[in-house]
Amino acid sequence: MALVCFPFKKERVPTVLRNVDIAVRHNCVDAVLLVGATKNECYRKIYAAIEAKNNSDQPYAKPVHILVQTRLATVLRPGKGDGMNTAMQFFLNAHEQPANHFTEPLKRLHFYDADIESFDHNWITKAEDGAALGYDVVRHYFPRSSTDAQVTWQVTKVGFALLWPRTTLPWVQQPLGGELCFTRRVVEALMAEPRVMQQSDWGIDTMYTFFCAQKGFSLLESYVPQGKMHALYGGLRDLKNMLCECFAAVQSLRHEPVSEEPTVHRIDPATPVPSCITEKIGYDIEKSMRLLREKWTARQKGLLELFPEKAKCGLLRASEWPEFMFMDEQCWVSAYKVLLDHFNVFDEDWRELIFKMWVARVLNYTMRHVTRGYHCALQANTEMVTRLHMRRTMELFEGKPMQPLDRKVSSGHLCTPESPPSPSSSWGIEPLQPLSPVTSYGRSER
Ligand code: LAC
Repeated sequence: MALVCFPFKKERVPTVLRNVDIAVRHNCVDAVLLVGATKNECYRKIYAAIEAKNNSDQPYAKPVHILVQTRLATVLRPGKGDGMNTAMQFFLNAHEQPANHFTEPLKRLHFYDADIESFDHNWITKAEDGAALGYDVVRHYFPRSSTDAQVTWQVTKVGFALLWPRTTLPWVQQPLGGELCFTRRVVEALMAEPRVMQQSDWGIDTMYTFFCAQKGFSLLESYVPQGKMHALYGGLRDLKNMLCECFAAVQSLRHEPVSEEPTVHRIDPATPVPSCITEKIGYDIEKSMRLLREKWTARQKGLLELFPEKAKCGLLRASEWPEFMFMDEQCWVSAYKVLLDHFNVFDEDWRELIFKMWVARVLNYTMRHVTRGYHCALQANTEMVTRLHMRRTMELFEGKPMQPLDRKVSSGHLCTPESPPSPSSSWGIEPLQPLSPVTSYGRSER
C-alpha cells in the first residue's frame, strides 16, 4: 500500500499531470496525492484536469487526491514543510476516512517534486525495491549542475560535518533532497517530533534527514543517473529564503545529540554524468556580483564586528567593489561558526548578511573551481566537506578535545549558552590547502 505525493506551488501543469499519470500506472502505487501550497491558478487547473479525467470514459485507475496544505506550524513561514507534513498527516489517517476507500493503513509514502521533467516509473520502482529490502528510508540522489546545490554544499553538508562528524549525517549525499520514500514507522516517528511539525519552511528537508539519523532509521540512497531535469532558479537572490531557512534549521539543531553507533546506510554507486548536466550553468554570475553591493545597512556593517578579520574586511570591501576571493573555504567555515552563534532568521539584517556572505562564497567557488570544469568543481565541493569532516572527527573542538572514539553520542554543542562569542576561534582547522587540479570526481562513500 504505497501513496505517492507530489507537493506543488506554481508548476507547468502538463508536467504535473504527466507525473501523476506515471505514478497511477505504477503497480506498487495505490493512490496519488497532490498537495498545493495555495488555491492558486495552477491548483485550479490541476484540480479541473483531474475532475475532467475522472468524469471521462477513461478515469484514473486509482484514487488521485488533491489538497491545499494545512497550516500546521505556528511560527515559521508557511512553505514546503507544511505541504510535506500535510501529506504525512493524510498518509497516517487515510484509512480512517471512508471517502478515501483505503481498507488498511498505507505502508509507504513517496515524495517527488511535481515539476521533474525526467520523472519516470524507475524512480518509484527503485524506492519500492529499497523499501522491500527492509530499508526504513530510501532517498534518491542524482547528479546536479556544478553551480547548483550551493545551499546543500555550503550550508547543510558543512554544518553536518562540523556538528556531527562521527555520525551518519555527513555521509548523506543529498540531505536537502525531496525525492524519497518513508515507511510507515518513519512517518509515525517524524510526526511525533514537534520540531518536524513546526518546520513549515524550506528547513523541512534538514529536519527529516536529521531526525531519521537521530532515530537510527536504516537508509538506502538510490542513484538516479538521468538527474532531475526541472526549472532552475533565475539568480542567487531566488535562493535567499532557502539559504536562511536551511541554515536556521541546522542552527536550531546544534545542541542535539546523535548516536555514534553505526547505523545501516548504503549508497548506490554513481555512474558517469551526462553532458546536459555537466554543461549546465545554474545562475547568472554578473547579476550575482551586484548582490554584494545591495541592501547594506549601518547595522549590518556593525554586525560584521562579530566576524573574524578576513570575513569582516572582505565583506566591507565587497560592499563597494565586487570582491569575493577572500571567501575561501576557511573563511567561510570561520564565518559559519559565528553565524551558528548569532544568526537570527527573523532579523532582516542577519538574513541579508548571511546571504551576502554566501553569495561571496558561491562566487569564490565558481571562479576558482567551476571555471576548471564540472569534475574539478565537484571535487572541490567534496574535498571541502571531506577534509572538514576528517578533521572534525578527531580534532580539538572549541579548545576541548572531542570525546574519545568509543563515545556513543555526538552532540553538536559548540558553546554553552553562557559562553561568549568567539569570533577569533579558528575551529581548530588549519587553512585549507589550495586544491590541485584533478580530473575525476572522488565521491566519498562508506
Ligand atoms: C540546494 C538547492 C539550491 O540543494 O536546491 O542547494
